[in-house]
Amino acid sequence: MEIQFFLNGQSVKTEIQADTLLLDLVRAHGCYSVKRGCETTNCGLCTVWMEGKPVLSCSVLAARAAGQHITTLEGLQKEAEEFGRFLAGEGAEQCGFCSPGFIMNVLAMERELVDPSEAEIREYLEGNLCRCTGYMGQLRAVHKYLHRKETR
Ligand code: FES
Ligand code: FES
Repeated sequence: MEIQFFLNGQSVKTEIQADTLLLDLVRAHGCYSVKRGCETTNCGLCTVWMEGKPVLSCSVLAARAAGQHITTLEGLQKEAEEFGRFLAGEGAEQCGFCSPGFIMNVLAMERELVDPSEAEIREYLEGNLCRCTGYMGQLRAVHKYLHRKETR
């Protein structure tokens, strides 16, 4: 079947199969930041935004993207680089495999929650697994990033 959708603001028309996953659709269009980790909705590596809300692209059929706006890290380069500097500053990025999915959720959280508490931050990000660093460095980076404007 043919679908039309928007990928990082660009209109795309493409052929898909009924069982094509959103993960494979965006990667087929050059969005290699979107990683295949567990494929069982447990790791968060495949996170993209659909209409501005995070979804696990390993568990969404590509057909659901029809007419929708899909955003990947490639469409958020400036913000991603800024947050990436905070991650690196806290030693929270080692192999980096988990970083794109994690960053997608942090940037979504920043838009969605006003002045989130520690518990809200942990709850929002609990679906993002990292096998390298533990989570304390990531949490320090998130706090510093969210409060960056106060310290300027
Ligand atoms: S690959 Fe989608 S949640 Fe792990
Ligand atoms: S930095 Fe390697 S999995 Fe998170």
